[in-house]
Amino acid sequence: MYSIIIRPFDARDSSDIIKIDSESFRTMNPTYDLFIYMTYGSEILVADIGNAVVGYVVVSYREEEAKIMSLAVKREFRRRGIGKMLLREVIRRARSKGIKRLTLEVRVSNRAAQELYKKLGFEVAGVLESYYSDGESAYLMHLYLDKTDDLSQSWV
Ligand SMILES: CC(C)(COP(=O)(O)OP(=O)(O)OC[C@H]1O[C@@H](n2cnc3c(N)ncnc32)[C@H](O)[C@@H]1OP(=O)(O)O)[C@@H](O)C(=O)NCCC(=O)NCCS
Repeated sequence: MYSIIIRPFDARDSSDIIKIDSESFRTMNPTYDLFIYMTYGSEILVADIGNAVVGYVVVSYREEEAKIMSLAVKREFRRRGIGKMLLREVIRRARSKGIKRLTLEVRVSNRAAQELYKKLGFEVAGVLESYYSDGESAYLMHLYLDKTDDLSQSWV
């Protein structure tokens, strides 16, 4: 058994995050320097099981909007609610900062992530044709925080 805490990123988490990133995404396999560069100015939260980081989310804030730039969970820890825990913490923090809208893009083929986002109240706001470098399109998804009632009700 293990317990999971969601906490802010620490530089020592980088190697775990880069491994999760490499097994999760087709297009991006950043080095440590590239990861720090790409996430500059963003907030990174990690899911920590005590001796390792098993998931992360990167969020960028701009005025009253926040964008989820990246989210991934280590393969063998998926379907245990960790993605949901990370997003719930993003939503809680965004609310406390007065953010009105959370946005993200997700590959049209990525049903797992779409299901997760829908479960937390995100809705498809449009399609971005050929959005990714390999030509795949993306769904643009939004969550309006002021429209979401007590979050405890949507955290099923
Ligand atoms: C998407 C991802 C982050 C989900 O993380 P996770 O920890 O497995 O998600 P959770 O366990 O919190 O799942 C919560 C809900 O999301 C939905 N969901 C998650 N994975 C799913 C899957 N493979 N198929 C269908 N629904 C899925 C389910 O509704 C699930 O609830 P349930 O387990 O009670 O049925 C993970 O699959 C991942 O890292 N994928 C690769 C990277 C990626 O695609 N990131 C998103 C980029 S936009």
